[in-house]
Amino acid sequence: MELRSGMVAVVTGGGSGIGRGMCRSFAAEGLKVAVADLDEGAAKAVADELSGKGVKAIAVRTDVADLASVEALGAAVDAELGGVDVLCNNAGVFIGGRTRDVTPDDWRWVMSVNLDGVYNGTHVFTPRLLARGAGHIVNTASIGGFLTAGEAAVYSATKFAVVAWSEALRGDLAGSGVGVSALCPGPIRSSLADCDTHRPAELSGVGNRSDVLWDMIKDGLEPDEVGPIVLRGIRENAAWIFTHPEWKGAFEERFGAVLAAMK
Ligand SMILES: NC(=O)c1ccc[n+]([C@@H]2O[C@H](COP(=O)([O-])OP(=O)(O)OC[C@H]3O[C@@H](n4cnc5c(N)ncnc54)[C@H](O)[C@@H]3O)[C@@H](O)[C@H]2O)c1
Repeated sequence: MELRSGMVAVVTGGGSGIGRGMCRSFAAEGLKVAVADLDEGAAKAVADELSGKGVKAIAVRTDVADLASVEALGAAVDAELGGVDVLCNNAGVFIGGRTRDVTPDDWRWVMSVNLDGVYNGTHVFTPRLLARGAGHIVNTASIGGFLTAGEAAVYSATKFAVVAWSEALRGDLAGSGVGVSALCPGPIRSSLADCDTHRPAELSGVGNRSDVLWDMIKDGLEPDEVGPIVLRGIRENAAWIFTHPEWKGAFEERFGAVLAAMK
């Protein structure tokens, strides 16, 4: 899809990391931006930064795990920005730890943000995009949506599901003017390793931790480097948007093993 000045982008998890990077890239192209985040202060800081550069931007406190909250985001975007052209279902959280140690609270939290969040965004915004007859949806999955890591089972389970959901939605919407991409980043030096702080009180029982991620991402790309890659993916209507082509060998190994098992 062509991106033009005056279009509107909605980015969940836009207050930090990859989401903030995408907000900055959209704004640099002249798009209006809705910065949606559970952390209202972070969303406001990003919206203020973009407004300071002359771009119309709003901050909307949103919990992607809560359908009513995402519906309110849709209404705010309609009222304040006049509709949506690009939706980035990007908010996400991580926990590590052994698979057998994943607690019911761990499971519910990560599923509710990473998977329900993508469903809720799709449910609320797809009819709006279809009504316009044009647009693009970017769902943030991960390289962990194709490759399993021993210590990130619940995270990887959500990201495999986001890849599957994105591929299916892309098929459903083919010919409608609305494209769909699964963004599959490798390690990005964001605040994801601190995401335990976003855990709701009712799901805060003893469980696995997010900070074990830091060792995996501390040498990664800077989050702002992802924005331009996403813009290229939208323009090309790429089914998958990767940030680390150097991981190709690991994909060959995985899919080679899958094919070898089909005898
Ligand atoms: N950092 C990486 O290495 C990496 C790699 C692959 C995929 N990802 C994915 O990228 C996405 C963005 O993560 P990031 O790395 O930029 O992390 P980040 O922690 O810097 O940003 C995530 C943002 O999501 C927000 N958030 C958390 N729970 C929310 C909720 N319930 N509702 C709304 N917002 C919520 C946080 O407040 C934060 O601003 C996630 O989906 C993550 O899984 C990250």
